[in-house]
Amino acid sequence: MTLETRIASNDLDIDLIRRQLSTRAVGHVVYLFGEVSSTSERLRQLAKEGAREGTVLLAESQSDGRGRLGKKWFSPFGVNLYASVLFRPHITPKQAPVFSFIASLALADAVRRIGVQPAIKWPNDILAERKKVAGVLADLATSGELLDYVILGVGVNLNVEKKVLLDALGEAGQAATSLREVTGAEVDRNAFAASFLNSLDEWFHVYRGHGESALIRAWRDLDILTGRRIAVKGEQSTIEGRAIGVDADGYLLVKDPLGRRHQIIGGEIRLID
Ligand code: BTN
Repeated sequence: MTLETRIASNDLDIDLIRRQLSTRAVGHVVYLFGEVSSTSERLRQLAKEGAREGTVLLAESQSDGRGRLGKKWFSPFGVNLYASVLFRPHITPKQAPVFSFIASLALADAVRRIGVQPAIKWPNDILAERKKVAGVLADLATSGELLDYVILGVGVNLNVEKKVLLDALGEAGQAATSLREVTGAEVDRNAFAASFLNSLDEWFHVYRGHGESALIRAWRDLDILTGRRIAVKGEQSTIEGRAIGVDADGYLLVKDPLGRRHQIIGGEIRLID
């Protein structure tokens, strides 16, 4: 594909991002690195040193980007978005899965704003044209019964070329794409970062003001799994059945062919039909 639209400089730039922010809690402090091992790992160090809620850490690349289920997150330099944001909500670990929905809802908003219809695949994968363009990793630390902090780390394939994805991810790359591939135009990384952070701040306040049910309602509107036949590969076994939605704790519910309901708390999801 040849691209007609080029952005003069598409390097991440803190000032450019800041100018586009209209947030209350997110982004009072924004760090930008060239390369880090992992933005979430780096932010975890700052969190332990007392960093304030809303601190954002961005990097142009990650040498050890982490995905869900112990996977690596492919993080080439200068083309995508790798961002981690620190929150200190007064919630229990059990409430964390629904809290993490603020990140996928914010990503969905930012994707929609560039003209692409997003969908969410449980728990927090963002799909465009049925392929994954972004993911969310939630890192938790507890203090007694409550969370000390949660770091929401997002990786978004903005401008990475399909061929580069395929070379890096092999077969798994078939299920992934980038927003540039979908739109045919280079995505402005600073505008996208600001758009995501603005929405993240909004959803954070929705959560604070209206609680979990508001997030679950919004999340269900974008859910691509409900009603579909799926296979969930866990550590010990694989469950096949029909997805019947998420429960109030944000866990996926699956009904197997014998009519038994399973509450899924993790695992790799594959669509069967
Ligand atoms: C997934 O597997 O879908 C989650 C991917 C999360 C990747 C992001 S990139 C920024 C942050 N730092 C990491 O090491 N991981 C998350």
